Amino acid sequence: MALLEIDQLSAFYGKAQALHDVSLSVEQGSIIAIIGANGAGKSTLLDSIMGLTQMRGTITLDGTQIAKLKPKDIVRLGVGYAPERFNLFPYMSVRDNLLVGAFTARDDIERNLEMVHKLFPRLEERESQETASQSGGERQMVSLGRALMTSPKLLLVDEPTIGLAPKVCLEIADVLHRLRDEFSLTVLITEQNANFALSLAERIHVLETGRLVAEGSAEELAGDDRLAAAYFGH
Ligand SMILES: Nc1ncnc2c1ncn2[C@@H]1O[C@H](COP(=O)(O)OP(=O)(O)O)[C@@H](O)[C@H]1O
Ligand SMILES: [Mg+2]
Repeated sequence: MALLEIDQLSAFYGKAQALHDVSLSVEQGSIIAIIGANGAGKSTLLDSIMGLTQMRGTITLDGTQIAKLKPKDIVRLGVGYAPERFNLFPYMSVRDNLLVGAFTARDDIERNLEMVHKLFPRLEERESQETASQSGGERQMVSLGRALMTSPKLLLVDEPTIGLAPKVCLEIADVLHRLRDEFSLTVLITEQNANFALSLAERIHVLETGRLVAEGSAEELAGDDRLAAAYFGH
């Protein structure tokens, strides 16, 4: 059974419709990417999974209907979210920003901190640094770490590589692979950087102005001339 099943999801900002009947499923233990241009609806899709938009349709996590639940209950059921603009507390330390994520999983704090420090040794070295003085890559790591402090089964990451140098993108890709392989997490990312998505994800869905228009493995999509020209620069 799929860990996450989205069926006919539509999302609205007032009268404006940002997602149109989006259906997709995410298998347990996989890394799935949604690619799309600016404004395609990527953040809206992840926000909708978290219960943060006005929407209709069904979203099932591990057999439980979550579409009508409150965000904090969706987090408790095992969905961690690293949003696009991180929303870190700039004048709080790295450690305190991580602990903010632990509010739904207090019993797991020690174990989760250990996992975060294993994945991001730099965060342990700099645990008392304010996030305001960190690089973009380090802030992305704090954001991912904070999401991991919620003990997720499913991790949602909105544009993990936005604004990051190629070397840092490789570090992030490595961490996402380790989350799947060593920690048995399922990962759903969004990306404008289609080549990053190709290198990382087992399956890729293409979102255009609120609609899914294609899906397949990296090889399948790279072999589609129109998609290759539009998204992969070849
Ligand atoms: N808070 C909002 N209020 C009104 N419209 C919004 C809001 N957030 C996003 N939108 C609109 O919804 C569409 C999808 O946006 P978004 O999900 O942010 O796209 P992406 O993350 O792919 O760049 C865009 O047309 C955007 O202008
Ligand atoms: Mg976005």
